[in-house]
Amino acid sequence: MPYPYVLLSAAVSLDGYLDDTGPDRLLLSSPADFDRVDEVRASADAILVGAGTLRADNPRLLVNSPERRAARRAEGRAEYPLKVTVTASGDLDPDARFWHTGGDKLVYTTDKGADPAARALGPTADVVALGPELDWRALLEHLHDVRGVRRLMVEGGGTVHTQLLQQGLADELQLVLAPLFVGDPAAPRLFGPGGYQGGRLHLTETRRIEDVVLMRYEPTAPGTGPEPTAADRHWLRTACELAALCPPSRTAFSVGAVVVAADGTELARGHSREGGDPVVHAEEAALAKTDPADPRLAGATVYSSLEPCSRRASRPAPCARLIVGAGVRRVVTAWREPDTFVTAADGTGVLVDAGADVVLLPEFEGLAKLPNAHLLP
Ligand SMILES: NC(=O)c1ccc[n+]([C@@H]2O[C@H](COP(=O)([O-])OP(=O)(O)OC[C@H]3O[C@@H](n4cnc5c(N)ncnc54)[C@H](OP(=O)(O)O)[C@@H]3O)[C@@H](O)[C@H]2O)c1
Repeated sequence: MPYPYVLLSAAVSLDGYLDDTGPDRLLLSSPADFDRVDEVRASADAILVGAGTLRADNPRLLVNSPERRAARRAEGRAEYPLKVTVTASGDLDPDARFWHTGGDKLVYTTDKGADPAARALGPTADVVALGPELDWRALLEHLHDVRGVRRLMVEGGGTVHTQLLQQGLADELQLVLAPLFVGDPAAPRLFGPGGYQGGRLHLTETRRIEDVVLMRYEPTAPGTGPEPTAADRHWLRTACELAALCPPSRTAFSVGAVVVAADGTELARGHSREGGDPVVHAEEAALAKTDPADPRLAGATVYSSLEPCSRRASRPAPCARLIVGAGVRRVVTAWREPDTFVTAADGTGVLVDAGADVVLLPEFEGLAKLPNAHLLP
């Protein structure tokens, strides 16, 4: 299921705190950075914060710039992004500023939290119960499918950020480092303990804004099993983009592939007909660049814009068999192979029979087909 693009946004002190323990909100950003945050808000369809942040900060979470609001209206969008909160207790203050400013409001909660939330808020907000527990994937799916949200900005607090990052659901982290210390172990931290991706995130940008620094990171670790992560989507997009590098052909598909270790390290990439070899396939080209003895292959994921082939005339082994032979047991792909060159190809079946997880993300099918449009009816 497609989810919105999930952007986590936070500011921290030099010692990693989100706030102090005083009654007022600690201002960590600089004025120019608050304006940058306003711009990011204006780009979002929805802004989400946890109920803890509502209780601690009583925020409005508005797009403050009239020009940015006018630009949203001119684009046919709501003047303000949808405001969303999550709560298990349903303990929400109906007088909080969140409910009385901006546009539509939405509460996600559990079966237990729904009644108290609805009683407290009345018609001020829509209340959606997601079952006995709040399931973040169900929440993202609901936001995408029912509320049309394509870009979600998450503004904390730490409990919410921690879950989204640990569950592999964050596409991007925008972190601002402020030049001050909190020094109080009772203060809230950005990320709590638990299981994070093993390797390094990908740094996409650093920017000095007055006396703070903005750092933008993308998680890189593939998912495990059949559940896709946000990083799976990034890597599959990369594979689809690699397909554009293929020398054109009337007799074979243009495909891109990337092999990624469990900690998010890229092991190899390839595309069809690369390096002057007129018949090499993308997965074959990528795997040929890996060391067959590399122990990371057993936990790696192969991303391929097209399902790995199950039969081919040009070489003895089809790509599904090459993947199994390399020890890889997880494949993410955008598009099942059509009957254009091989009837009833089933690379997915070959992989699944060998014990691999195959994850199909059909939202990338259009992108995977782009360099192959001349081959398709
Ligand atoms: N510096 C920054 O950029 C920044 C940004 C935002 C917030 N903050 C700070 O962060 C602090 C608040 O952080 P926090 O971690 O305490 O709170 P939080 O993450 O804002 O909210 C936590 C609350 O959200 C609800 N919640 C979270 N996950 C849930 C789940 N899976 N199912 C159901 N409900 C769930 C629960 O509400 P119920 O308790 O109602 O069940 C939970 O207590 C404040 O001090 C605030 O100033 C700083």
